This record gives sequence, structure tokens and C-alpha cells, in this order.
Amino acid sequence: MARPKIALIGSGMIGGTLAHLAALKELGDIVLFDIADGVPQGKALDIAESGPVERIDAAMSGTTDYADIAGADVCIVTAGVARKPGMSRDDLLGINLKVMKSVGEGIAAHAPNAFVICITNPLDAMVWALQKFSGLPAHKVCGMAGVLDSARFRHFLSEEFEVSMRDVTAFVLGGHGDTMVPLTRYSTVGGIPLPDLVDMGWTTQEKLDAIVQRTRDGGAEIVGLLKTGSAYYAPAASAIEMAEAYLKDQKRLLPCAAHVDGAYGLDGFYVGVPTVIGAGGVERVVEINMNKDEKAMFDKSVDAVKGLVAACKEIDGSLA
Ligand code: APR
Repeated sequence: MARPKIALIGSGMIGGTLAHLAALKELGDIVLFDIADGVPQGKALDIAESGPVERIDAAMSGTTDYADIAGADVCIVTAGVARKPGMSRDDLLGINLKVMKSVGEGIAAHAPNAFVICITNPLDAMVWALQKFSGLPAHKVCGMAGVLDSARFRHFLSEEFEVSMRDVTAFVLGGHGDTMVPLTRYSTVGGIPLPDLVDMGWTTQEKLDAIVQRTRDGGAEIVGLLKTGSAYYAPAASAIEMAEAYLKDQKRLLPCAAHVDGAYGLDGFYVGVPTVIGAGGVERVVEINMNKDEKAMFDKSVDAVKGLVAACKEIDGSLA
């Protein structure tokens, strides 16, 4: 059986890391695409040259021609401009919307059966636009945010509790922005929900609130430290987890920016929700119960995403 084909649209910091991780995990043959001639080819060759040492059986190539992504099983999109210090994800909107148009058309023409994972920010609006521009079925186009936001939350919690990250599960929903919704009630250590751990004296409500805020600001914290770009190791690892769930039909329950039609009172809208990812793409949107406060936070987050989508429609009339 032929190996799966993974196309990485955008070969910058995240794109290169995606290629390296996908190769190390032998998820399939990898094509790096970018408009900056030389970059995808150089990264592909560099990673290919690590193959004999790492013992990787995967073909690597780089290209500036969409024809070379033909028949890709998975496309992971990072094309666009990344945040610089002082820029919000939303500042990227106008620039990256144009990029989504060309990427959507390229995927539609050459890889219409692919499972598409968008990482480009502002995420929830870009994945919405990418689905529209590509015309691919909505359950085959999703955005990576919840896995990353939850991973950040899990990391901070494991440090606070001094326990292995493996035993910390966490839930972050809503848009991938300052209004994201870390759900403490559904986040656990060894199955014990966080509010119970506060009652047990493992931490205080104040410390938990600070961790929630740090999670919300997780992307900006890295931008502030790096000064010349945004996070790439954790975003790449998160998208690879989603790609692997699809390619191996793992039916993983992962939070992602999915097309929600009916659940959560939404009609045809992309926002971060728990989903089941398997060979069918986003096979299911899981609707959880939220209390009044959680619902209020979620609604605020949805409103923020709606604002971005409205801005996209204003910039590009074809999306209206
Ligand atoms: N088509 C293809 N590639 C493009 C296009 C385009 N129209 N426009 C820009 N690119 C490429 C750039 O040449 C660059 O190599 O996208 C790449 C982006 O890489 P980086 O600038 O290194 O950004 P990265 O850190 O990888 O982040 C990519 O993901 O998390 C988000 O906010 C982040 O939107 C940003 C994206």
C-alpha cells in the first residue's frame, strides 16, 4: 500500500517543524510548499538528510508549485504571516485572508479529498474562510487551536501540582484568542476535577485563576520571549496529533475549531469544540453541558469570532 501523502502549505517555522515531526513519526511522504522559492526545497533536503541517522522511511520534497501536492491525504496550512510583538492575532486578518484564498484554490484544484488542518491565525476566521475558498466539505476542514491551548493548560497544571503531564487532562473551548474558555470543571488530574483539587487544598482558586489567565495569554507569552516570531514547537506537535488521528482512524476526542451546525445553538460556524477525529475527518461534534458562567464565557468567545468573520466578509465580498 502506498504511503499517505502529507502536504504542508507554508514552510516557515511551524511548517518545517511539522515536516520534521511527521517524518520522525513516519506518518507518510511529505511535500513542503511555500511561495518563498528555496525554503521548502532546503528544509525538505535538510530533513531528508537526517533520514539515514533517524532511520526514516519517508520521501521528502519541497515545491512552489501546487501541482506537486496532487492527491495529498492531509494538508496542514501555516501559510501566511506570523505575529510580531505588539500585534494581535486579529491584526493578521487582512493579510492572511488573501493567503487563504490562494491556498483554498490550490487545495481545491489539486487535493480535494484531503483532510485539511488550518493553523494560520486568526485561526477561527481563517479556517472558516479556507473552507469557503476551497469548497471542501466542512467536516474535512478544521482548525488547530484547542489541542494547543489545552496542552499549554496541562503543562501549567502539571507544574503547579508537580505531577506527570500524562495524568493531567484539560479542556479549552471557544475561539483561539483572548476569549478562549478553559473549562476547569472538565479538567482533571488522574480523574479528579480541578475544583475538587482546590477543595482538597492542592491549590487555591487564585492560583488556578492565574493559570487560566496564563493559558489565555500562552501565545503572547511566547511572542514576547522570542521577539521575532511566534510559537512553533507546540503548535506543530498539536497539529500532528490531529493528522495522526485522521490517518490512523484513531477516533480521538480532541478539541478543534470545527464547523458547528446545530450544536451549541450555532448554525454553520467555526469555533473550538470537542470533536471526534477519525478517518471521516471531524466525525462528530461533542456537545457538553455548560453552566451559566461557562456558557457566558463561551458566548463571548463566539461573539469575538463572529466579529472576525464579519470583518472577513467586509474585506472580501465573495465571502458574504
Ligand atoms: N502561500 C504559501 N506560503 C505563504 C504564502 C502564500 N500565499 N504567504 C506566506 N507564505 C509562507 C511564508 O513564505 C513563510 O515561509 O508562510 C510561511 C509562514 O511561516 P512563518 O512566517 O515562519 O510563520 P509560522 O511561525 O510558521 O506561523 C504560521 O501559523 O500560528 C500561526 O500566527 C501564525 O499565522 C501564522 C502561521
